Amino acid sequence: MSDSIFAASLSRLGTETAFDVLAKARALEARGKNIILLEIGEPDFDTPAFIKEAAIKALWDGYTHYGPAQGLPVLREAAAAYLTRSRKVQFEPDELVITPGAKPILFFSIMALVDPGDEVIYPNPGFPIYESMISYVGGIPVPLQLREENQFRVDVAELRCKVTGRTKLIILNSPQNPTGSVLTKADVEGIADVVQDRDIMVLSDEVYCQILYEGKFESLASLPGMKEKVILLDGFSKTYAMTGWRLGYAAARKDLIAIISKLTTNSVSCTASFIQVAGAAALNGPQDSVGVMVSEFERRRNLIVDGLNSLPGVTCSRPAGAFYVFPSIVGTGMSSQEIADLMLYEGNVALLSGTCFGAHGEGYLRLSYANSQENIREALARMRTTLEKNAKR
Ligand SMILES: Cc1ncc(COP(=O)(O)O)c(C=O)c1O
Repeated sequence: MSDSIFAASLSRLGTETAFDVLAKARALEARGKNIILLEIGEPDFDTPAFIKEAAIKALWDGYTHYGPAQGLPVLREAAAAYLTRSRKVQFEPDELVITPGAKPILFFSIMALVDPGDEVIYPNPGFPIYESMISYVGGIPVPLQLREENQFRVDVAELRCKVTGRTKLIILNSPQNPTGSVLTKADVEGIADVVQDRDIMVLSDEVYCQILYEGKFESLASLPGMKEKVILLDGFSKTYAMTGWRLGYAAARKDLIAIISKLTTNSVSCTASFIQVAGAAALNGPQDSVGVMVSEFERRRNLIVDGLNSLPGVTCSRPAGAFYVFPSIVGTGMSSQEIADLMLYEGNVALLSGTCFGAHGEGYLRLSYANSQENIREALARMRTTLEKNAKR
């Protein structure tokens, strides 16, 4: 008899350490410490008022019942129109499925496509849920290293070398968490060339597509012949500061959408109806709040990059998108986890070790700059003091 009541498969399930660090920071705060939180990936802005009002109206209008597992037509229509506008390729409402947050799309797509022994190529450093889910379903995670000398973008030649007869899925993420890198047109064209004659699907995680400071956002789905191969994942958490609402969606071939809808029926039944109505209002309404938020993020990006580059032993490249920086701390002589712990317990700054995003994150930290300029300045000052103090030891 096994000495655990739990399923053996759970030993393969990872997690998102950002939430653990947040809990540690909150525990320190409860003991009276003042901690600056630069670890969690959520905009510090409030959801625009017109979206909240749409949700309240939807509640009074009776959107308080179960809806279809695939999502309400009103939101699938709005999201299909938005994707058609922004990705320059036609999407129909029945090619979309709505879920509570974009995260379930990762979970469901991997469950739907990956059998034990299938290989999945994923970015490393990258969003930790990719590796967790691939392993959990018995797939073989094949890390694709994102290197600073390539601005943390996918190296298409390296990707090609990783593809084997067992490759089932490739995961892309642009703009990227944790590095803020953005794929170029040449990158997505190269990736299209790798997959076009193969039975490989691509999960394109585009949740940060609106948070871009330089260059142009390129979606693999926009390229000729690629739409059928791509599961395009997008959501409301980042663009509209709606992390707590839990609303996301995917566009993909209809047979896969039917399977994801079935997995939705089996798990959460459907996404909250009044929240979907508010999501449609977000997509159809004025977009100026997004521009205001992105302009402020850009100022903070510049502030934090310049500040980090002035710290002893730290260098930081300027990311083109998302709201994260991924500075190298190799020059400090300490490991990523050592510095992360030091910053939390001594410097009172919560940030993440690069290794929270995979083994190739060693030598780096991830900081989210979804915090005020004032707090970013104070965090940089605390980091300087902590580094200088520990360098003298
Ligand atoms: C790369 C990436 N994909 C997906 C998600 C999930 O977002 P959501 O809040 O829509 O579930 C996140 C959230 O941090 C993310 O960073």
